[in-house]
Amino acid sequence: MLASPEYTVELAATTAAAYERVKSVIPAIEWAVHAPYVAAINDLKKQRNAVVLAHNYQTPEIYHCVADISGDSLALARRAAETDAEVIVLAGVHFMAETAKLLNPGKIVLIPDERAGCSLAESITAENVRELRQQHPGVPVVTYVNTSAEVKAESDICCTSGNAVAVIESLGTEKVIFIPDEYLAAYVAQQTDVEIIPWQGHCEVHERFTAEELEQYRENYDQLTIIAHPECPPDVLKAADFVGSTAQMQNYVQSRRPRRVLMVTECSMSDNVAADISDVEFIRPCNLCPHMKRITLANIYQALETLEPRVEIDAAIAARARRSVERMLALGG
Ligand code: 13P
Ligand code: SF4
Repeated sequence: MLASPEYTVELAATTAAAYERVKSVIPAIEWAVHAPYVAAINDLKKQRNAVVLAHNYQTPEIYHCVADISGDSLALARRAAETDAEVIVLAGVHFMAETAKLLNPGKIVLIPDERAGCSLAESITAENVRELRQQHPGVPVVTYVNTSAEVKAESDICCTSGNAVAVIESLGTEKVIFIPDEYLAAYVAQQTDVEIIPWQGHCEVHERFTAEELEQYRENYDQLTIIAHPECPPDVLKAADFVGSTAQMQNYVQSRRPRRVLMVTECSMSDNVAADISDVEFIRPCNLCPHMKRITLANIYQALETLEPRVEIDAAIAARARRSVERMLALGG
């Protein structure tokens, strides 16, 4: 905790530019709670030569006011590989922090709450991957980045929702084992001739959306554009006008400027995009990711203050996992 989290006149002036960015999505009364942390974190980052990387599902006061780099999993991995900072704070979930550490073995990588997990990452173990290889000899393993370093170490290459088809096709094989998201696997199977052998992992956030719910929204709102994340079930994706990674969803809204949009994904996504756009109406059915929401301004501050908790990965596992991530990044795109 900050020693004196008071919202003074000076603090209001120091943080005025930050508040300007989020005032359409954060009421002034709430800003008084965030402002002391925003100022303290931005000071501490300079002292520590640190950067904050924030995923698109972080709350707006993190995403717009203390993050140096923000984006989807692919962008965070790419930018983590490029940073000159000595300390990286990953405002996101544990697998994202592990990816940053794999790409920066000599740097301090902090995850403000170690309990920030992911139901997809928990759905599969390294032993499961070894068994899959035995069942399908010679078939390469393409692994969604939403997995542990141990699972990445057993894989041939990683992918994200933004590049899955390109990664699969880069291998030039007739079949791939694609783990662990069953719905993403079904979605990519529609975009490629490569045979996909899936695993039965699901995202606990996206699996809760239903096609009936989307139909109801279409009935209630005319001229509604529905865009969905590919971790949603197949009937939800079928009911959507566009499907893409969180960055692709954001680009869609920023470039196409639909009159009304419903982003079928985690709650903070709409807030973060809406903060920059005033001419699009956001309809917000949202499901919270409890793991993403473990990250707060208070624990980002604490992590920078104490330089804990650090992400550490066994060197032998890291060397193998890094190869899978770097092989994906080398594809570019
Ligand atoms: P993106 O790579 O599309 O940001 O997705 C990450 C994630 O965890 C979605 O639930
Ligand atoms: Fe994992 Fe789903 Fe949360 Fe993304 S939204 S971090 S896939 S549980």
